Amino acid sequence: MLPAALWLLCVTALEARAQTTTNEFYSTTFETLSTISSSDFDGTRYTYISVDGQSTVETRRQNATATSSSNSQITKTATSKSVTLIGGLTHTSNGTQTASSTSTAPRATNTIPCNGYPEFCQRKYSNITNVCAHNSVFSVDNNAGSNQEYPIQFQLDDGVRMLQGETHWVNDTVYNCHTSCDLLNAGTFQSSLETVASWLDDHPYDVVTWLIVNSDMTDVENYVPAIQNSGIARYLYEPEYVPQRLEQWPTLAEMILSGKRMVLFMDYKANQTAVPYVLNQFHHIWETPFSPTDQNFPCTQQRPPNLGEKIARNHFMYLANHNLNTAVDLGALIGGGSGEQILIPNTAEINQTNGMFDKFGQLERMSQNCTEMWGRPPNFLLVDYYNLGKPGPGAVFEVAAKANGVTYNRQCCGMGDQSAAPIVQSSWIVLGAALVFAVLLA
Ligand SMILES: *[C@@H]1O[C@H](CO)[C@@H](O)[C@H](O)[C@H]1NC(C)=O
Ligand SMILES: *[C@@H]1O[C@H](CO)[C@@H](O)[C@H](O)[C@H]1NC(C)=O
Ligand SMILES: *[C@@H]1O[C@H](CO)[C@@H](O)[C@H](O)[C@H]1NC(C)=O
Ligand SMILES: *[C@@H]1O[C@H](CO)[C@@H](O)[C@H](O)[C@H]1NC(C)=O
Ligand SMILES: *[C@@H]1O[C@H](CO)[C@@H](O)[C@H](O)[C@H]1NC(C)=O
Ligand SMILES: *[C@@H]1O[C@H](CO)[C@@H](O)[C@H](O)[C@H]1NC(C)=O
Ligand SMILES: *[C@@H]1O[C@H](CO)[C@@H](O)[C@H](O)[C@H]1NC(C)=O
Repeated sequence: MLPAALWLLCVTALEARAQTTTNEFYSTTFETLSTISSSDFDGTRYTYISVDGQSTVETRRQNATATSSSNSQITKTATSKSVTLIGGLTHTSNGTQTASSTSTAPRATNTIPCNGYPEFCQRKYSNITNVCAHNSVFSVDNNAGSNQEYPIQFQLDDGVRMLQGETHWVNDTVYNCHTSCDLLNAGTFQSSLETVASWLDDHPYDVVTWLIVNSDMTDVENYVPAIQNSGIARYLYEPEYVPQRLEQWPTLAEMILSGKRMVLFMDYKANQTAVPYVLNQFHHIWETPFSPTDQNFPCTQQRPPNLGEKIARNHFMYLANHNLNTAVDLGALIGGGSGEQILIPNTAEINQTNGMFDKFGQLERMSQNCTEMWGRPPNFLLVDYYNLGKPGPGAVFEVAAKANGVTYNRQCCGMGDQSAAPIVQSSWIVLGAALVFAVLLA
């Protein structure tokens, strides 16, 4: 494989413009995020996959200590990566210009795709719109609680870059279960992490995110054995700042070079002091209304509660929930006389919901609405059955590509890995370019 340092050097040199802002940024002082103390979440009632307050969980409210935490940003110099300094190579632009004017070689560009697109290598992690497969592991045939048709390795092959899903703490083990392990049990959390770890082994230029839904609000420490035993630990990204603001994220190239290509978020009960590689979702990502049944898909900020509009706009990434739900009787699914209503994916409307046109109920409409409201598109587009849409399979990736200003030109979906061959070919071009730049910069 291409020596990663050379590759990064090349990518950086080629696209070095505006990188000085990176360095300025790190010295900027940030507002104290006093409005989003973790105590906002502990002790509040929250509802998951339910209607009318059923299946609502009430958490224990911690006394004094939690509420008094100031929650200002901590800089973790110990985890600071020297690679971030490579962003300071802006002064090579003179050399680049001189070289291309005297050389007969065509102007070199990076052709290795980061997360599918060469353009993304120099973009910050926080500056990319990703498709998120809602409840990724729930791809169980003939189960009304399923949210996806294809399993997670297909999702990743097809271009999904955020996996997400409900987990439950049962028998001292973390399981991927939907609402309850009786309704849909898609195996242990560890087994799905193993799948992702082996996918990352095979895809050295990809950065993947997993948003853990801690439905039982169990301690984050309970997730540690599954994470450590799954083989994914070596890829886990630990942020430099706690919490890490929008502009403080590294570029994909930096993450790829450092090998820290797996980002874990957890909605409730994350504790980055105790487990630094499980990031607190609601200190980094806000969400539009959860489990929507409204086809207008308003792009209003719902969780975390009480997040200031200015902080949401300037410092947070955001996730657009674009999975349409319908209410069904729980008893009808698992038997018995339960009159309890639960929400399941509205598969009748799925093609429209995942559509790529600026029309009522479609994903593209929400993406545009959100961009209009927040000045930038969502970071994560959460969808059910990512492989379906209008006018056909791949529509959700078209929407993401449009938001990212790139062209989607892949086949969708469920056909396996399409990225291996191009990477091998393009490595030679990039290796050549990297060598040229290595010489120029020497
Ligand atoms: C929590 O606070 C309440 C009200 O101030 C008090 O009655 C209770 O004893 C406290 N519990 C603990 C564990 O400190
Ligand atoms: C280098 O860049 C500076 C500022 O853009 C310019 O004034 C100078 O002429 C350049 N030198 C060369 C050799 O291109
Ligand atoms: C990324 O940054 C560009 C340039 O500022 C902006 O146009 C685009 O909307 C941003 N995308 C996201 C997802 O933040
Ligand atoms: C937990 O243990 C009980 C008792 O052995 C068993 O009936 C149940 O199926 C287990 N749950 C899961 C999710 O494995
Ligand atoms: C987080 O973990 C640290 C270190 O284990 C502990 O001291 C602290 O009390 C925890 N915070 C919460 C809110 O549980
Ligand atoms: C946002 O959504 C509403 C309701 O669907 C629609 O009427 C409006 O035109 C949309 N705005 C933009 C900027 O797309
Ligand atoms: C969605 O579109 C696919 C073709 O892309 C079609 O096979 C399927 O029946 C449609 N689903 C619904 C519910 O209309």
